[in-house]
Amino acid sequence: MQNRLTTNSINKLKGQKQIVCLTAYTYPIAKIIDEYCDLILVGDSLGMVLYGMDSTLSVTTDIMCEHGKAVVKATKKSCIIVDMPFASYQASVNKAFTNAARILSLTGCQGVKLEGGEEMALTINYLTQRGIPVMAHIGLQPQSINVYGSYGQRGQEKKEKQKLINDAIAVTQAGAFAVVLENIPENLAKQISKKISIPTIGIGAGKECDGQILVTEDMIGLSHKAPKFIKKYANVAEEIALAAKNYATDAAAAD
Ligand code: KIV
Repeated sequence: MQNRLTTNSINKLKGQKQIVCLTAYTYPIAKIIDEYCDLILVGDSLGMVLYGMDSTLSVTTDIMCEHGKAVVKATKKSCIIVDMPFASYQASVNKAFTNAARILSLTGCQGVKLEGGEEMALTINYLTQRGIPVMAHIGLQPQSINVYGSYGQRGQEKKEKQKLINDAIAVTQAGAFAVVLENIPENLAKQISKKISIPTIGIGAGKECDGQILVTEDMIGLSHKAPKFIKKYANVAEEIALAAKNYATDAAAAD
């Protein structure tokens, strides 16, 4: 039996190989992609992709736990990380620990991911010191949509660039095992990847990160609204529509 990758083994892959990551929310998708991934993220993007919510803000810890359980059950090899949803970790380190511990114990996942840089360093440190591996997430932070007002690229101006470099250093020093860089300029992602000792996992951040992640439904053409930077590797929506059309034709002809 193959051993599952741990957060420690993901951390040690920096400089060894490109780290392959995808999201999964459900048993069937997780089962298919497990073989090809180092890390699978049960992302809170499921709120928009799977439930048709307007943002990720209405996703709850209960929802994340149910999807996390299914994904862990379906997989054998990949390191499984579950997102902490909005309002489950920002208020206090105690609240963050209670919710992260619940996610870990109910799902059997290897760690959690949370959004934020310097301002979340204390929380990341608190969790990692108490047995909860944390993946950080900086750059575009979808849970802060109401502060930024758009899902556009971050880190274009000098001041924000420096803030992102400081964020990356802060989450590394706090003990995160890896950090997601979302929708930032490629040269900034390169600079950050060179500067910090933990793996950077890019989405819309260019080729110079230590690994890449995509939302699987975006990558296979099953999302109703995928970001512009996504390369599509299949058009599953078209396949489903064709199957439904052919089935409808057969069913109608049956009487
Ligand atoms: O929620 C999610 O799917 C994510 C990825 C886009 C990194 O955070």
